[in-house]
Amino acid sequence: MSHLFTPFRAGSLSLGHRVVMAPLTRMRSSAGDRPNALMREYYSQRASKGGLIISEATPISRQGYGYAGAPGIYDDGQIEGWRAITDAVHERGGSIVMQLWHVGRQSHPDIQPNGEAPVAPSALQAEGYGYSTKGAVPFSMPRALERNEISAIVAAFGAGAARAKVAGFDGVEIHAANGYLPDQFLQDGTNHRADDYGGSIDNRARFLLEVTQAAIDAFGADRVGVRLSPSGTYGSMSDSDPQTTFGYAAARLDALGIAYLHVVEPRIRGTELIAETEPVAARHLRGIFRGTLIAAGGFDRNSAEAILSVGDADAVAFGRNFIANPDLPDRLRLRLPLNAYDRSTFYGGDARGYTDYPIHSRAA
Ligand code: FNR
Repeated sequence: MSHLFTPFRAGSLSLGHRVVMAPLTRMRSSAGDRPNALMREYYSQRASKGGLIISEATPISRQGYGYAGAPGIYDDGQIEGWRAITDAVHERGGSIVMQLWHVGRQSHPDIQPNGEAPVAPSALQAEGYGYSTKGAVPFSMPRALERNEISAIVAAFGAGAARAKVAGFDGVEIHAANGYLPDQFLQDGTNHRADDYGGSIDNRARFLLEVTQAAIDAFGADRVGVRLSPSGTYGSMSDSDPQTTFGYAAARLDALGIAYLHVVEPRIRGTELIAETEPVAARHLRGIFRGTLIAAGGFDRNSAEAILSVGDADAVAFGRNFIANPDLPDRLRLRLPLNAYDRSTFYGGDARGYTDYPIHSRAA
């Protein structure tokens, strides 16, 4: 029996199947970081009746950028393009939430306003690359945020959530995974602060919880999700006690009554499978977070059915396979073969590798 094609709820979202489209940065926005008609086509192609799409990570401020070409939600001029996208998804019977993003230290002065240093909880540099308009740039040394700067960033998350609501989104997801700003505060490898945003686990979780609350204030808890990547190492992340850290975060998010928790398995480093292991992160947090849980990272049809059948998750998000298969829910339901993805067109470019993946012909 298939579990993937049964209905479920995530807060106020009533969904018809459990094949979720994972958030996927594709860097194809227009001038002013505005969403455009090409993006509308891409999302429309991937919408399905009863399906949930999580948008690509969307910066809530210019300071939150690490990847030029990502669409923003930091000014009102960006709302109209998003509205066209949410309308297209709704027309096809789907739901869409926006993933809200601030990269923190995963950036470079070339991508920052006025060529300033990126910001982080502490002045500790990550390994890896962001993308400026000129191409890949190594992450640079960040500046530690002053205590009195933090509330404005929290407010920007709230303002982003409010704009997403005006743009017709069904909810928002806080991007607290993959070593971005909320994750940098949460884990002790990147947070060496001595004030009330650092040190103890309740202090390190403060930023994540404040940002989540700001989104709740704008949208309602039943329309806010949070993405975490326990033990993920992407972005040079580390924690001395990840079980306790992420368990604490999950318990506090549970108490806020959010719509869902979205958990990336540590077998994935950013976008690459590093080990074929069982899903451990969802299993651990399932015992702590009582609401809807979405698992992600390296799933195929069989492993998705397996995690649903043991009850460690309520839905499964698919990333790379959704890039290459606009009709992924149909293909999984009908057990059709999948298109292969082309990594060279993941980040930036035009319609190639974006809207030209074929749907499966069922004419035969
Ligand atoms: C990603 N991923 C990602 N995650 C996230 O939270 N926000 C994002 O914007 C992105 N962007 C992104 C772009 C591209 C091109 C890829 C391939 C991946 C991670 C993604 O959501 C997912 O967790 C991973 O791809 C693992 O799932 P799959 O691909 O094994 O199903």
